[in-house]
Amino acid sequence: MPERYLVTSALPYANGPLHVGQLAGAYMPADSYVRYLRLAGKDVIYICGSDEHGVPITVRAEKEGVTPQRLVDRFHAGLVKTFDALRFTFDNYGRTTLRETHYPLSQRFFTNLYEGGYVKPLETEQLFCENCKRFLPDRYVEGTCPHCGAGGARGDQCENCGRWLAAMELGEPRCKVCDGVPVVRKTTHWYLELPKFADRLREWLAGNTHWRDNVRKFCLSWLDEGLADRAITRDINWGVPVPLPEARGKVLYVWFDAPIGYITSTIEWARKRGQPDRWKDYWLDADTKLVHFIGKDNIVFHALVWPAMLMGQPDGFVLPFQIPANEFLNLEGRKISTSRNWAVWVDDALADFQVDALRYYLTANAPETRDADFSFAEMATRVNSELADIFGNFVNRALAFVKNYLGNEVPRAGALQARDEELLKLAGRQLDAEAAHVENFEMRAALAAALEIARAANKYYNDEEPWAWRERDRGRAETILNVSCRVAATLSTAFDPFTPVATAEIRRMLGMERALSWEEAKTAAVPEGAPLGDVKILIEKIDDGKVAAQLRALEKSAGLEPAAAVPEEEKETVPTEEDMSEEHVNMDDVKKLGMVVAEVKTCERVEGADKLLKMTVDVGGEERPVVAGIAPWYEPEDLVGKKIIVVKNMEPATIRGAESRGMLLAAEHHDVVKVLALDGDLPAGANVL
Ligand code: 2FM
Ligand code: ZN
Repeated sequence: MPERYLVTSALPYANGPLHVGQLAGAYMPADSYVRYLRLAGKDVIYICGSDEHGVPITVRAEKEGVTPQRLVDRFHAGLVKTFDALRFTFDNYGRTTLRETHYPLSQRFFTNLYEGGYVKPLETEQLFCENCKRFLPDRYVEGTCPHCGAGGARGDQCENCGRWLAAMELGEPRCKVCDGVPVVRKTTHWYLELPKFADRLREWLAGNTHWRDNVRKFCLSWLDEGLADRAITRDINWGVPVPLPEARGKVLYVWFDAPIGYITSTIEWARKRGQPDRWKDYWLDADTKLVHFIGKDNIVFHALVWPAMLMGQPDGFVLPFQIPANEFLNLEGRKISTSRNWAVWVDDALADFQVDALRYYLTANAPETRDADFSFAEMATRVNSELADIFGNFVNRALAFVKNYLGNEVPRAGALQARDEELLKLAGRQLDAEAAHVENFEMRAALAAALEIARAANKYYNDEEPWAWRERDRGRAETILNVSCRVAATLSTAFDPFTPVATAEIRRMLGMERALSWEEAKTAAVPEGAPLGDVKILIEKIDDGKVAAQLRALEKSAGLEPAAAVPEEEKETVPTEEDMSEEHVNMDDVKKLGMVVAEVKTCERVEGADKLLKMTVDVGGEERPVVAGIAPWYEPEDLVGKKIIVVKNMEPATIRGAESRGMLLAAEHHDVVKVLALDGDLPAGANVL
């Protein structure tokens, strides 16, 4: 029995088109992964769908004057088209507004949790907008930050001081939609009692040693902080009705029903195949490897809340085997923001670039272990100098040679020489390396391994000079081209997870009926004697005009002045791309920061603030209070006695009632934070320089 995989990508909200940041995070790697698994002979289905509930959808529908259903119908259809254009291979792409399947299953999830004693009602006070006639979710309230006093703070976070807030804490709150002044009203919601799952979650997480460390540790530290009950109902009329008579008019929170969409979509898949129970083979078999591809903002839901929801069902659902969470993709040096129109929509990109070009760049530059930056110029460079010059070029020159000089049939091989064997062996080794990387969710490295085959093939072709043999020894020329065609066939498998249009083209040109499996690609038999299909350019190069046009369109839609054109003679002095993305500082700027060595004297938690530690530090003959948001990663006693680095002249602030005069330096990666400390010993107060 082949290993069984159930692979999902986060359900995208059906309230806008797809942008490249989303594609890079949860979609591109997943489609590559399942394409590989199929070629490797695994039993795999790939499931996704549109996430069609939630307040933002109702707000947008209202703005447009349409019903939420109309709105999601439109965007759902758009998403389906976009994924098709990208050659995605979902086995099913469903939606969460399916009344016959998704609603009853979501309600059953709720009822099971309720009857199992994991859900309880609670009355709270919330802001209600009388104009809009709705309770305002935190993000829909703006007001004055209670910490720093800045105006325009959002009800979930203050952008000025970065602190997390609750809408009820804001001063002078306003409804973001109509600018009206909301009132306070009582309402009852049902809460999922996550603490009741804490032990089981901890045990499960502790066993998931095959996870990326950052995801696992992040969740464990979340558990250490203590889980809180979470409201899973909302006061709106768009969503799955809460199946309780006393909860009339309320719906399940969108984040409660969305992941259930993974199951509904699988059920839909099974029904469409005429095997209505087939979904159970995946969801109810403990051996299934359930893999959720997501962006990093979805970690808590997928690694804690969703597993708890599954644990609370009597069915025996499989729990996630792996949750590859990607980091964020920035765009031309800035954070992607759909509200500010700083985004590249996939459909717009596909109007100017080949599907494979976009897929290639998003994989080669995937935000796997840290945030990455999407830049049109870099995309052109990488597509042109790697995908076109190495991969496309090798296949095209070899096949064009066969067409022009060797009778347009896949040539037969004579005796192989050592160098021929070497190339074939290298291709086999690279396929193994690529497979190992894909299985480890390292798509960048996997793609690089595939490219290595094409690089070696180009070198082989240059060194063997088939054109020189053509007159002298046609048999040798044919052997070289036979080997080249075999490697082209190998490439059509090796690149299939990433650039599926080009790989299908290779097969068409070589007269192959199907892709070779991963195993077959190692020996790569080609149909000798078969006529070649029309030889066409595999990868088009991207010209500068398209890069400039895309950039202009982006800046225009974001309302930015386009960068002034640079006169030709001045070009040399133009800063490089790297310079532009980094603002330079000089020594004086650095000195201005007043960084010193500080010794931690005392350290304790700040009551009521899970993330904060408050310490007193000696900055050289003077002790000061410093507050830092590092409690998820440090116990207070870990720090006492340590020599750390502090920015002494930081503006004083009062954070959650605690005074802070100085800022501790720390580094962050993948939600893991480490405090900067001194390598060796120097007295407190020593200057950092
Ligand atoms: O963040 C998002 O785009 C959500 N729509 C993801 C949902 S994933 C899953 F739970 F369905
Ligand atoms: Zn309002």
